[in-house]
Amino acid sequence: MPAAATERLIQPARNIQGSLRLPGDKSISHRYALLGGLAEGTTRLTNFSTGADCASSLACVGALGALVTHSSDGSVEITGAAGHFRPSASPLDCGNSGSTMRMLSGLLAAQSGAFTLAGDASLSRRPMERIRKPLAQMGARVELTDGHAPITIHGAPLTAIDYATPIPSAQVKTALLFAGLQASGTTTVGESVRTRDHGELALRAFGATIQRSLDSVSIAGGQPLHAIEGAVPGDISSAAFFLCAAALFPGSNLIFDALGLNPTRATLLDVLTALGAHIGVLNLEDKHGELVGVVQVNAPPQGLTGTTISGALSAQLIDELPVLAAIGPYTRNGIRIRDAKELRVKESDRIALVAANLRAMGAEVEEFDDGLDVPGGQTLHGAEIDSGGDHRIAMAFSVAALRATGDTLIRGAESAAISFPEFFDLLDRITER
Ligand code: S3P
Repeated sequence: MPAAATERLIQPARNIQGSLRLPGDKSISHRYALLGGLAEGTTRLTNFSTGADCASSLACVGALGALVTHSSDGSVEITGAAGHFRPSASPLDCGNSGSTMRMLSGLLAAQSGAFTLAGDASLSRRPMERIRKPLAQMGARVELTDGHAPITIHGAPLTAIDYATPIPSAQVKTALLFAGLQASGTTTVGESVRTRDHGELALRAFGATIQRSLDSVSIAGGQPLHAIEGAVPGDISSAAFFLCAAALFPGSNLIFDALGLNPTRATLLDVLTALGAHIGVLNLEDKHGELVGVVQVNAPPQGLTGTTISGALSAQLIDELPVLAAIGPYTRNGIRIRDAKELRVKESDRIALVAANLRAMGAEVEEFDDGLDVPGGQTLHGAEIDSGGDHRIAMAFSVAALRATGDTLIRGAESAAISFPEFFDLLDRITER
């Protein structure tokens, strides 16, 4: 059931200080939930994502025959369906989660029976042809509703394919690797931009062998999966809001413990460094192939400079672009974003909503088909923000509000719980007023 609409008032801040340990990464939690759901044995996960999206993945594998239990210490146990999902009587509810819908489709394409996947209004507007086409080439029958969800998948014995993703998408890549795991032959997915590799690392963690080159990944079919025990690294895309907030206040000091630092996800740290922030990384560790460490951020005394984000960088920073654009007015030279047309088909049209909300706060901003120009050196005032029900818009503008004059009202603030239910409480904890 969707959460009741709530509003949050954000007052300007004086500084950002503190030390945080964040709930588990959303992308990794989804993959562990889905693979744990199919594997043989009981997977035990600590620091699993607390977001509603990952709860959707757990509920779906539960409806497909896995046994999911939550312990009082916050850990999750999944006893997998040992390679065979059973069709569920009612549609699988993916909620707001594109990751659940697309990646689970890959797993279901090889299973026997018919499976229907449905989602909320936002998810039902998002493009699904990108998974239908390659999964159909492998032999599954995938019926969309006008290019969108609800999706009905008639599973079938699959044949491996060699497929180059036309749009960089880790969800599509992962869906095809999940299907390839169950196909006859070796499936290869090529990509022009290297997207996040959590799918590859999770498959390895659950015991599958995969081959990787710089621009492709291959998986042989017929490999069984075995349960794992693991701790999910803290979510760097959630940390992004606080990292950007801290980068705005000279004198700030913010530390994250056990943060996920997978190189395919940590580009924001390079961007913040390029903008002049001081980023320290220490105590690196490997957890099931995922890099985890401590991150410290301090703002530069002279303020942030500015930058252009385009090409491969835009794909790698896709979830961080809203908050980078939202702090753009407070940089000296502005933030320019290009090659980010995918932002238009996320949980909302993030280009349009970022532009509209920046304007509501009094900013000058230019909108392009594939990006935005946000000039620097601007002063913003508090305003009413329309999150459009999109978690990353609600959180990005809560950060912009910290440096505005006057108070800002975030409408649709409940949407933060899609990925980060603790966001507003933790923001309060690190904000000095
Ligand atoms: C994700 C991939 C990205 C990202 C999303 C999570 C993933 O989507 O925006 O939040 O976990 O693979 P695309 O695959 O559509 O680029």
